Amino acid sequence: KRVAVMISGRGSNLGALISASMASDYPCRIVGVVSDRLDAAGLQLAADYDIETHVVERKDHADRAAHEDAIQAVLETMRPDMVCLAGYMRLLSGDFVSRWMGSMINIHPSLLPSFTGLDTHQRVLSHQVRLHGCSVHFVTEGMDEGPLIAQAAVPVLPDDDADSLAARVLKAEHKLYPSALRLVAEGKVRITDSGTVLFRDYP
Ligand code: GRF
Repeated sequence: KRVAVMISGRGSNLGALISASMASDYPCRIVGVVSDRLDAAGLQLAADYDIETHVVERKDHADRAAHEDAIQAVLETMRPDMVCLAGYMRLLSGDFVSRWMGSMINIHPSLLPSFTGLDTHQRVLSHQVRLHGCSVHFVTEGMDEGPLIAQAAVPVLPDDDADSLAARVLKAEHKLYPSALRLVAEGKVRITDSGTVLFRDYP
C-alpha cells in the first residue's frame, strides 16, 4: 500500500513508519510527507530517505477550507491508499476527513478515550493515574475520537515528570504505529458504516 504521512513537527513517528517500511515483508511504503509547517524537523528526515516532501502552510491560504483543499491536491498527486497523521497538529474538517474515511489513521499519546487533546502527559500526572499509553485510531471529525485500532500501555512511575513519561510513551508509539498501520493495510481491521471497527484474525 502507498502511504502518505502528514506531520507538523519532529517526525519521530514518521521515522518509525519509515524504518518499519524498510522490512521486505512490511505491506506499506511511505510515498510522501506533507507538513503544515516549514520548520518541521520531520521534513529533513523524509528527505534523508529520498521521500518526497511538501509544505502547505495555513498562512498561505485564505481559510481552513482552502488550506485543506491545497493539502488534498498535494495528497492526490502521491496517489496514497492510506494517510497517516503523525503529529499533525491541526483539527481536520468533516469534509476533508470524509474523503479519507477508513483510510486515514492517527496516533495519540494517551489511552483514549481518556486524555484527548494536548499536554496529555502533564494531565496524566495531575490526575495521578498509574497507567498511561498511546492509541491509534481511525480519523473522524471529532478530535481524537475515531474508532480505536490498537493501544499500548505504559506504567506511570513515582518519579516521573512529563518528560520522562513522554519518552516512555513515545517509545511505545514507535512500536504501536507501524503495527497498527500494518493491521489496516492488511485488511485485518476496518471501519464499518456504523463507525465501529471490525477485526479479522486480530492477533
Ligand atoms: C506524538 O506524541 C504523537 O502521538 C502526537 O504528537 C507527537 C508527535 O511526535 N500526535 P513526532 O512528531 O512523531 O515525533
